[in-house]
Amino acid sequence: MSRVPNVAIDGPAGSGKSTVARLVAQKLDYLYVDTGAMYRAITHLALKTGVNLDDQDALGLLAGATKFSNVRFCSSSDVALWCNGADVTPYLRKWDVTREVARVAAVSGVRHCLVRSQRVFARSGGVVMEGRDIGTVVLPDAEFKFFLTADLDTRIERRALEISGNGRTVDPEELRRQFIYRDEMDLKRTVGPLKAAPDAVVIEGTALTVDEIVDRIVTLCRGMVA
Ligand code: DC
Repeated sequence: MSRVPNVAIDGPAGSGKSTVARLVAQKLDYLYVDTGAMYRAITHLALKTGVNLDDQDALGLLAGATKFSNVRFCSSSDVALWCNGADVTPYLRKWDVTREVARVAAVSGVRHCLVRSQRVFARSGGVVMEGRDIGTVVLPDAEFKFFLTADLDTRIERRALEISGNGRTVDPEELRRQFIYRDEMDLKRTVGPLKAAPDAVVIEGTALTVDEIVDRIVTLCRGMVA
């Protein structure tokens, strides 16, 4: 391998991939890139500027005009993301953004622009990138690909714990509705659907702890690089 490898981690919401990807990046000393945050940022900008979410051309133009900077996806527990010189980090997990992001992420013009930016982050290698289409579309040549799954109840339970751990209240039934809706949107969209790459290692994480999943991934990566 001539350059530092890239690691692609895909999976549905609540599969634990953000936590896992962040820890894997820390252990390998790679850059962590959360691509969901970028779709969230475009959704926030669309809502803020009053772009009609049914207007796919306008959403594509908005994504094309958005320059991501001050991206600090690594080590700290929170993602930091700036768009066109402004910090959008505080808005990424807002309720309205979470509700609408799957619609925005289904727009091919938006995906086209974001995939291009994501590839730039990974150009020199040494990136752990997580999302839905990293192993299949964004980085099909990534040296390591993983696809995390877990059953729906486990995913809801993990996300509820994460939200309450951040001091916010959570309604598990609302979370269930949200997950079912977002799974459907992620799986059914024609561009970049949620799918395991044929060469991805699938990790069924229902019965595994985060540390066990991280260890498995890091061991595989180190074993292949050493
Ligand atoms: O991982 P997340 O919940 O922050 O993702 C937010 C939304 O973006 C979710 O609806 C899936 C979508 N997404 C996507 O379509 N492709 C990616 N590579 C990452 C996220």
